[in-house]
Amino acid sequence: MTRSRIQIAIAALVIAAIGGAAIAQDANTDAVTARKADMQAVQAGLGALRAAGADMAAAKAAALKVDAAFKDFGTKLPAGTATPFAKSRAKAEIWSDGPGFKAALDKATAASGALVAAANGTDAAAVTAAGGAVGGVCAGCHGAYRGPVVP
Ligand code: HEC
Repeated sequence: MTRSRIQIAIAALVIAAIGGAAIAQDANTDAVTARKADMQAVQAGLGALRAAGADMAAAKAAALKVDAAFKDFGTKLPAGTATPFAKSRAKAEIWSDGPGFKAALDKATAASGALVAAANGTDAAAVTAAGGAVGGVCAGCHGAYRGPVVP
């Protein structure tokens, strides 16, 4: 290769590397957007559950929404997306304390799974109780793993 060809080859490699980094950055931004939407869905699902009252079909739909959103949330946490990336509030402890975070998430999906099970039954009071248990898992995880709003 001549010197100028080598320079062109190096330039092409640099451009490819920058392009690859941009794609990874986009995927990470999408993950933050998706996990925030999941959390909004958890909150909206619990609201729908309360509004459902004794309407078991509506309660079941709400329970499934909450459960699916918690599960999806767990898949939208790629490394490199800790706060303040893309205005995320996800604390670095999610990754540095993997087992602790997994335990918090497992607690949430266990509660949402129990909610789905209750909503598959016929006992509206049991659904209300299971919904209350799901509501009880938010603060613990937020306290440990969610940081302040990123301005
Ligand atoms: C296992 C941990 C965990 C549990 C359990 C959890 N959250 Fe979250 N939540 C987070 C984290 C982390 C964020 C910040 C996500 C981000 O900004 O990237 C968050 C963010 C949110 C947000 C803000 C979303 C946005 O648009 O920025 C809402 C609303 C929310 N959670 C509601 C809830 C509710 C309601 C519950 C309980 C029923 C709950 N969360 C349970 C970890 C959790």
